[in-house]
Amino acid sequence: MTAGAVTGWQAEVRRLAAKRDAVLLAHNYQAPEIQDVADHVGDSLALSRLAAGSDASTIVFAGVHFMAETAKILAPERTVLMPDPAAGCSLADTITAEQLRAWKAEHPGATVVAYVNTSAEVKAEADVCCTSSNAVDVVESIPADTEILFLPDQFLGAHVQRITGRDNIRLWLGECHVHAAISPADLRSRVATDPDAELYVHPECGCTTSALWLSTVGGLPAERTHVLSTGGMLDQARSSTAGKVLVATEIGMLHQLRQANPRTVFEPVNPAAACRYMKMTTPDKLLRCLREGVGEVHVDPDVAARARASVQRMVTIGSASSGE
Ligand code: 13P
Ligand code: SF4
Repeated sequence: MTAGAVTGWQAEVRRLAAKRDAVLLAHNYQAPEIQDVADHVGDSLALSRLAAGSDASTIVFAGVHFMAETAKILAPERTVLMPDPAAGCSLADTITAEQLRAWKAEHPGATVVAYVNTSAEVKAEADVCCTSSNAVDVVESIPADTEILFLPDQFLGAHVQRITGRDNIRLWLGECHVHAAISPADLRSRVATDPDAELYVHPECGCTTSALWLSTVGGLPAERTHVLSTGGMLDQARSSTAGKVLVATEIGMLHQLRQANPRTVFEPVNPAAACRYMKMTTPDKLLRCLREGVGEVHVDPDVAARARASVQRMVTIGSASSGE
């Protein structure tokens, strides 16, 4: 998405970004006012591609730390800034490089698939990265008889197991506290209240299994249940003719969905599903970052070099969604 008309502090953000030759990237879970001032809004994969392809000398990343690190890994010659570099990710924190090395030692010969929600050090230990929009394509690019260590999200991993039908994928039992809190009980009660609505579910959600169960046993028609990345949700929303869609992911996503399709009503499955890390980007922090050039993200060059190959494979595999 490209920024529309902006005023006040948003006009100042645009002026400062132009002065600094900066491109402003915002994740779909950022607060609506941050999304509205960005040059591009998208999912992790789309933003990684945009970071790699941008000509701007500075990338300002309104997202969480692993996303800005990924931009730095792909564009080491650019300056990467974050409005608040302390914005982390509870899912990325569930595995360290040391833990991964120990897991690999137990499974020699296995291919390591790391979700992009991981630190640069963990990516450096992986063979290939993936996001929620290309995880299935990435796994299908690996020979069927090769054992896979999939990390760190157990729900995304279970979704990939179901879609690919592979029984040689081992899962790291990590989870995102925001998505895991969107429970099967939340989902069932929302579906019971709105039985005609469509359902968009992010594959990180604790309710994914329940959504697929409902779609197969009749609580919800399979054709109205969609397990999608945030970018995939936007693609689906643009062409939707549904009266109402229930959305099981972080609530920042609703802003993009409502803009993409004003005819459909989009409602959260759990209105309390807000990522506090994503909401650490505020207008004041963004202005300070652009004005003073603070919040630079660094990745050790040796770690970045080792991580780059697995991130680049992720960027080239699967064209599922641009998220723009
Ligand atoms: P996407 O890959 O769908 O952008 O999701 C990123 C994320 O952090 C999910 O919580
Ligand atoms: Fe991490 Fe969860 Fe926040 Fe996404 S929503 S950035 S996975 S803590």
